[in-house]
Amino acid sequence: MEHRLPRHVAIIMDGNGRWARRRQLPRIAGHRAGVENVRNIVRYCAESGIEVLTLFAFSSENWRRPPAEVKLLFELFLIVLDQEVERLHEAGVRLRIIGDRAAFSAKLQRAIREAEVRTAGNDRLHLVIAANYGGRWDIAQAARTVAAQVARGELEVDAIDADLIASHLELADLPEPDLFIRSGGEQRISNYLLWQLAYSELYFTDCLWPDFDTVEFEKALDSYIVRERRFGMTGEQVSGERDAVATPVPD
Ligand code: IPE
Ligand code: IPE
Ligand code: MG
Repeated sequence: MEHRLPRHVAIIMDGNGRWARRRQLPRIAGHRAGVENVRNIVRYCAESGIEVLTLFAFSSENWRRPPAEVKLLFELFLIVLDQEVERLHEAGVRLRIIGDRAAFSAKLQRAIREAEVRTAGNDRLHLVIAANYGGRWDIAQAARTVAAQVARGELEVDAIDADLIASHLELADLPEPDLFIRSGGEQRISNYLLWQLAYSELYFTDCLWPDFDTVEFEKALDSYIVRERRFGMTGEQVSGERDAVATPVPD
């Protein structure tokens, strides 16, 4: 059996609020603890050779939360960008934010741009933060780009296929997530990377995000490593391919 690390891990970091409530703390204390944990998981991924880590920080539906929590979350986002970018840069991390940033303050938009430019040359780990992101928004914005090309007469309708749509989605230049993790006990996708998760291995855990440490992360990796990814083929085909790869060619 091959033991291959996922190239791309996508995580829904859920459970911060419940973590705080259990300690009789305000929800924002859970979000702060969640950020602390992000630091550990990012370090682990950079050191273990995972290429891409995509974290869901704020969904397009999270605007429905109480305004005070939304405000604190965005303040936290700005503080984290201010404090962490230099450290990430030194660790060779390339930072990218995906989602509709038009709704962010000018200050936050500028901080995001600067962080992306500052770290653009790094290739140790690609850290993607999904903020005001929704999978449906992502597909809709790709469709809008394609439609505009058709309207300008640059593209034939018949040329529209899945590959073309995919090429206009966020993360089009990166490998698709191999492993999806959701902490916090819920077993749903919550409008995360709907298109990109088509063939990801799914891992759900009751562990709340601030407690999802590197030991928990390794449990998810262990679960991933023993799975057989068939991509529509039969098990025999897949093991045949594996044997073909594993068997040295005689000379
Ligand atoms: C996830 O934790 C973080 C964000 C959505 C910003 P939650 O805040 O959803 O935590 P629970 O689900 O209420 O415990
Ligand atoms: C999903 O978590 C979004 C993030 C972790 C940022 P939620 O806690 O918002 O998801 P639902 O609403 O319970 O599905
Ligand atoms: Mg939640």
